[in-house]
Amino acid sequence: MSDSVFILAIESSCDETSAAVLHKDRVLSNVIATQQVHERYGGVVPELASRAHQQNIVPVVDRAINEAGITKNQLTAIAYTQGPGLMGALLVGSSFAKSMAMALDVPLIPVHHMRAHIMAHFIRNHSQDPIPEFPFLCLTVSGGHTQLVLVRSVMDMEVIGQTIDDAAGEAFDKAAKVLGLPYPGGPWVDKRAKLGDALKYTFTTPQLKGFDYSFSGLKTNLLYFLRDRQKEDSGFIEREMDHICASYQHVVTNYLLARLEAAALHTGVKHLALAGGVSANSALREKFTQRCNKQGWQGFIPSFEYCTDNAAMIGIAGYYQWLSGTKGALGDVPKASWPI
Ligand code: KG4
Ligand code: ZN
Repeated sequence: MSDSVFILAIESSCDETSAAVLHKDRVLSNVIATQQVHERYGGVVPELASRAHQQNIVPVVDRAINEAGITKNQLTAIAYTQGPGLMGALLVGSSFAKSMAMALDVPLIPVHHMRAHIMAHFIRNHSQDPIPEFPFLCLTVSGGHTQLVLVRSVMDMEVIGQTIDDAAGEAFDKAAKVLGLPYPGGPWVDKRAKLGDALKYTFTTPQLKGFDYSFSGLKTNLLYFLRDRQKEDSGFIEREMDHICASYQHVVTNYLLARLEAAALHTGVKHLALAGGVSANSALREKFTQRCNKQGWQGFIPSFEYCTDNAAMIGIAGYYQWLSGTKGALGDVPKASWPI
């Protein structure tokens, strides 16, 4: 029976409207409509995100089903992001999922967005694709979250460290904003950093107890540094952009990995993973691989398409929930905040 499991997954927690179809743990389609409307505001505008989801949801789901080469009557269940995320944005995806599940008379599977980022590691488009062994440690770094998660099983995840203020993605996006780079800034900082000297400037990060992070001081550090330099030399940012990006990225990625490494040594866990939008960062990926090799740990990095928000990760989380018999109800409501 489980051989013919087809899951339609819907993701609408922030500014990506996405739908995917999975056959068991294999992705048949993964359609992502990125909302460009937020660019000119330098950040996601919740009301505009909800409107764009409304416009995108029908064509995106239609395309995902067509590209998968199945008909909607073959669907076994519909997984959707129940939270955390923007309430208006979540309402669009969840209401659509509920209506479709009702029309097709198939079960609904509500999925936790941050758990799904981690579950992206279980997508197996080829049977030989390696997957992490339990327990493993996952550094989940996105625009809204920075978490060190001890993953004991698909259903048993514990946050052992997290940011006490800004998320790592925000640290990148806010730095990009003060440097005058477009939104979202993370990929821009990454791009410019490739051309710069990572050791040219130093920025400081706080050492908190345990495995927690704090990024707000780093952002202020950068802001004051730029203000002082610009006072003396108005062309400083423009001329030094690549070096500033490289140095800032160097500090952020080292800070992220130092705590992950400390957590791995503390717990004795030897399988480590990255997840979330910031795991697309080239320096983070490279240094993570180097450190894992050095320590003899097995490191897992999602392929680029499953790093930033996408419905395939909702689909794989939904598939595992379906296997465990977890189902949702039509009365379930979206959750703007929702601890792992
Ligand atoms: O996981 P995600 O797509 O959405 C959330 O759930 O928040 O993460 C988006 C975040 C943004 O802050 C974006 O700037 C960051 O991921 N990001 C990057 C890179 N690509 C995306 N940050 C640094 N380097 C990148 N290459
Ligand atoms: Zn995300």
